[in-house]
Amino acid sequence: DERTYIMVKPDGVQRGLVGQIIGRFEQRGYQLKGLKLMQPTEALLRQHYNELVTKAFFPRLLEYMLSGPVCAMVWEGKGVVATGRMMLGATNPQASAPGTIRGDYCIDVGKNICHGSDSVENAEREIGLWFSADELLSWTPHSRPWLYE
Ligand code: GTP
Ligand code: MG
Repeated sequence: DERTYIMVKPDGVQRGLVGQIIGRFEQRGYQLKGLKLMQPTEALLRQHYNELVTKAFFPRLLEYMLSGPVCAMVWEGKGVVATGRMMLGATNPQASAPGTIRGDYCIDVGKNICHGSDSVENAEREIGLWFSADELLSWTPHSRPWLYE
């Protein structure tokens, strides 16, 4: 089954939005496979954002992401990578539609409260960076027949 890496960034944790963000994925019907609060290290963030390290905003992004704990999670379900990105909304909250997480809860691209993997390949790469195998649980979701045809 398809999995994605979703993370509540330090501003989302500080602003008490972890529950709201988890709730949206739960309500949609996706299955939670892993969840933890953690303080990311610079080394981990450089791996996670390996495609962005040369960007002018990268030092600010690093400072932002190091500013406090994040809530790391893995969600599973049909099309969860693309659907998860739609649920988060556009990268820049000024362009995020109302009804999306960013469109409902934030204003600036440098404080956009959440992360979602942008491809199935990157999702698996990011899950491997943020979680060890024993932190991901296999469990039977009893809602499954009521969610999928
Ligand atoms: P994520 O789900 O967080 O990965 O966002 P994304 O995939 O929509 O965007 P991208 O991977 O290109 O950028 C990662 C993160 O870097 C964004 O979510 C922002 O927090 C930050 N970022 C991207 N562009 C800018 C920018 O122009 N200025 C600032 N300050 N931050 C940026
Ligand atoms: Mg990205």
